[in-house]
Amino acid sequence: MANNTDVNINDENAPQVPKHIAIIMDGNGRWARRRGMPRVAGHNAGMKALKEIVRICSDMGVKYLTVYAFSTENWKRPQDEVTGIFKIMVYYIQKELRELAEKNVRIRVLGNWDAIPEEAEKSMEHALAETEKNDGMVFNIALNYGGRTEITDAFRKIAAEAAAEGKSPEEFADSITEELIGSAMTTAGMPDPDMIIRTGGEMRLSNFLLWQCAYSEFIYTDVFWPDFDEKELKRCIEEFNSRHRRYGGL
Ligand code: IPE
Ligand code: IPE
Ligand code: MG
Repeated sequence: MANNTDVNINDENAPQVPKHIAIIMDGNGRWARRRGMPRVAGHNAGMKALKEIVRICSDMGVKYLTVYAFSTENWKRPQDEVTGIFKIMVYYIQKELRELAEKNVRIRVLGNWDAIPEEAEKSMEHALAETEKNDGMVFNIALNYGGRTEITDAFRKIAAEAAAEGKSPEEFADSITEELIGSAMTTAGMPDPDMIIRTGGEMRLSNFLLWQCAYSEFIYTDVFWPDFDEKELKRCIEEFNSRHRRYGGL
């Protein structure tokens, strides 16, 4: 006899694990300041939280996990903080790559990561190549990512292809569809995020997934990113499950 903790897959009211979870990992700096530590210590603690959340999401059966690691606007920060963030990222990838690969996780990078420090670029290239054939959870790292830049680049790409094909202005205009724009985004072929979690108490997107968020459920928590754990993730998923997604219908 099934015990009452078994998930009934035929029950449409049973909790659903979102297929695509996106996270704005915010609050590292404030976490550190509260402890009288430098901001970089907050980023380091944030990487530890990320490591756990990636493992938990993969075990839960999440298909896509997208995390906002560094925005196109974050270059405005002091040089030593920027350098520190990338150093911590390189260390994380080096340390975790084997486990991620064993878990069949596929790492992808969203954003213009050619513009990041060379060491970080190399380590990302290595991580991508090592996990390229994996078909488990897709782990998207949004690095030097900005939603407006992504949309702008997509339009450039579409225009360049139309020019190469010798399309007339009318043919070009007619060819533009939502599908075409979606396929020119860095998330081409992936489903839109079901929910976007933002830690750290702010209620804004800060240029994250502007095109893809059309029908995402937004979930905000005051918890600073380094303190975000399995319990808090499960609470967010519960909140997601309590929402009624109508997509404009009734
Ligand atoms: C998020 O934490 C990490 C990055 C933006 C790289 P913050 O560094 O923004 O932390 P707060 O918002 O200052 O607390
Ligand atoms: C958003 O956080 C970017 C990342 C989490 C990487 P920010 O801390 O940069 O956002 P703002 O400045 O509060 O909008
Ligand atoms: Mg912040």
